[in-house]
Amino acid sequence: MRFSGRTVIVTGAASGIGAETARLFAREGATVFASDIDDDGGARLAAETQGDVRFVHCDVTDTASIKALMDHAAAETGGIDVVFNNAAAGGALAPIDEIEPSEWDGTMDLVLRSVAFGIRYAVPHMKGRRGASIVNVSSVAAVGPGYSPTAYAVAKAGVLHLTKCAAADLARHDIRVNAIQPGFINTNIFTSSIEVPEEMKEMAKAVIAQQSANAQPVKRGGQPADIAEAVAYLASDAAGFVTGTSLVVDGGITIGPRHSWDPEEETLFAGLQKMQEEAEAAAAGSPAGSAAS
Ligand SMILES: NC(=O)c1ccc[n+]([C@@H]2O[C@H](COP(=O)([O-])OP(=O)(O)OC[C@H]3O[C@@H](n4cnc5c(N)ncnc54)[C@H](O)[C@@H]3O)[C@@H](O)[C@H]2O)c1
Repeated sequence: MRFSGRTVIVTGAASGIGAETARLFAREGATVFASDIDDDGGARLAAETQGDVRFVHCDVTDTASIKALMDHAAAETGGIDVVFNNAAAGGALAPIDEIEPSEWDGTMDLVLRSVAFGIRYAVPHMKGRRGASIVNVSSVAAVGPGYSPTAYAVAKAGVLHLTKCAAADLARHDIRVNAIQPGFINTNIFTSSIEVPEEMKEMAKAVIAQQSANAQPVKRGGQPADIAEAVAYLASDAAGFVTGTSLVVDGGITIGPRHSWDPEEETLFAGLQKMQEEAEAAAAGSPAGSAAS
């Protein structure tokens, strides 16, 4: 068991990637402080998961709430070994020419500032712990436009840079800091920022799973367990030489446009290739030394 005797914090643990990762850490022997603003979901997770999972209410947009979570976990167990800064939502949907300042700030607070202060208030309890490690959730949205609304994409790109800067700052305390960049993962996030009935949420999840499966080299929808396994690796001693980096776990969706990996798809240069083949065929068919040469 990779995390026996370790204290692990998971934010946004009531649903999706956070819930699955909390379950994995608990299975592997950790004491998991699973936090969220969804008290019912958090309580359900703690009740239904085998192992030591303790739910703590924490709103990651509230720095006092983050500090209270970290102080509570350390007071109960003596310190913190692993922090998984995971909580977020899709944030503001507006494009850059329409977004309001409050929408921008709200998204930055939830997606980026939350991670900064998740690190800030955990680290005093992580110093001197062997194998201390922080994993932050970024996204393929940080690779380029088109995967998410703009404010979220910018905040997730910020999480990547924050990860590198924090890895540098915290090297002196032997704390590793890395990020994970999930692709399209089958969770509630696609509808969590908009008001839709429950059955439509399930429909939206199914549509996105199908569309992403068709758009990526790995021909299935991404699951929370795909991310949980990668997070556990980054948090574990097996990744002891890994810090300040990011792991993209996306079924290959960011490797390039479909024609670059799908043998059924016509390649970008198919037209040129065809012209060349036609020219070669014509040259082969024409008599040697003809006037055309
Ligand atoms: N699902 C994807 O395709 C995908 C892709 C890239 C990145 N991500 C990232 O993965 C992380 C987890 O998302 P998910 O897909 O599991 O979504 P999810 O909606 O299933 O889970 C997010 C959890 O965060 C909680 N949360 C929201 N606001 C909070 C707050 N202020 N304080 C504390 N908790 C809060 C929610 O209650 C929920 O339980 C997020 O950082 C998200 O941006 C997800």
